[in-house]
Amino acid sequence: MGDKNPDVKKIALTLSKMNSIKLGNIGSLVSFNSESCEMTTERDVEVVVENGCIIDIGKKLGDADSFIDCGNNLVTPGFVDSHTHPVFVDTREEEFAMRVSGLSYQEIQKRGGGILKSTKLLREASESLLISKVKSRMDTFLSLGTTTVECKSGYGLDTGSELKSLKVIDKVNKNHEIDMIPTFMGGHDFPIDFQHNKDAYVDLICSNMIPKVTKQGIAKFNDVFCEPGYFNIEQSKRILETGKKYGLFSRMHCDEFSCFGASKLAAELKVNSADHLMEIDKDGIDMLANENVIGTLLPGTTFFLGMKKYAPYLELQKQGVEIAIASDYNSGSCNIQSMPFIITLSCIYLKMNILEAIQASTIIPSKSLMIDDKVGSIEKGKIADILVWAIPDAKYIPYSINQSNINLVLKKGKPVFTA
Ligand code: NIG
Ligand code: FE
Repeated sequence: MGDKNPDVKKIALTLSKMNSIKLGNIGSLVSFNSESCEMTTERDVEVVVENGCIIDIGKKLGDADSFIDCGNNLVTPGFVDSHTHPVFVDTREEEFAMRVSGLSYQEIQKRGGGILKSTKLLREASESLLISKVKSRMDTFLSLGTTTVECKSGYGLDTGSELKSLKVIDKVNKNHEIDMIPTFMGGHDFPIDFQHNKDAYVDLICSNMIPKVTKQGIAKFNDVFCEPGYFNIEQSKRILETGKKYGLFSRMHCDEFSCFGASKLAAELKVNSADHLMEIDKDGIDMLANENVIGTLLPGTTFFLGMKKYAPYLELQKQGVEIAIASDYNSGSCNIQSMPFIITLSCIYLKMNILEAIQASTIIPSKSLMIDDKVGSIEKGKIADILVWAIPDAKYIPYSINQSNINLVLKKGKPVFTA
């Protein structure tokens, strides 16, 4: 971002010479509080940041080297977007019109669209082209308040192209302010040449891709699209169990278009996150709850695909399933990067209240990514990933979808975006 915005550079330069920063004149500070185990709204508090970390929160704190006046506005943690597919060449606009004319996601796939269309382009693309595309997508994420983002491979679908995608994530991550958490998703779809021998592709994932990916240390998680027409229960189980043997933690795409036991497998394997859940049934909900599996709901995808059935948030919540919300940003089924807009959709269609939606987009996703000791809330000892909004109160977030209401994004205490 810095390159495009001289203001950010100026503030960053001034602040980088300072040891400590105090955020004051905060209208309301909304964050998860680990002591009370709930979301809290505090007024008249100040936050002191030193060396990128939050060192104090309280009323009338002493002076710091520099001061950020929050203008009596809302302050929240940076968003943690725990489900994205950002390594692709181009978006698939032609599918939007096909959907509007009545074709389903699966029908479009049968006509040569879908994931495999993106695969063809990704395989041909150079690493440097992908780096520049992914970097600019990360700039956008940061400007919209996302300070940590999970990033999946999965449009390569052969060993070289999956490794290329993960290397792109690794390289951009090392040179960008945003934190990217890498997920290997060789189990996203079956490439053309394996359509008639699907188990052979699963063999390739297990005996070739996973060992190579883990040898290079460029992925933390392993994800699979467990869905009729994609990976069945047995294939998904094999991929995730093999990943686990090699040290990868598991995530799953479950019950997106049909309920065929994916959530039950997620519970059996105690995955870190069971995602989508639009079609989850009562048994699946109970099993996720019993095994304390976090559910990640992606209302942006339901919306962008023009579908009517959103994930049953209220039932999941009633049974005690912890819920995250994420963008699912990808080339085909969801071209949304804005977590504030995902919050709007979550309030309208999932029936979340605003505090639940902030919790679901900060601390819960950080837990599913196993980084909640560092990010996801504004608490002493945590990394200073902080948003200063242009609105006084959290209730304005889902209401104003015309413009971004974020004034300032701090990443590790450093201003990386200003409006
Ligand atoms: O999460 N469901 C599978 N993967 C993506 C879609 C990817 C694509 O269509 O390109 C999703 O919706
Ligand atoms: Fe996805």
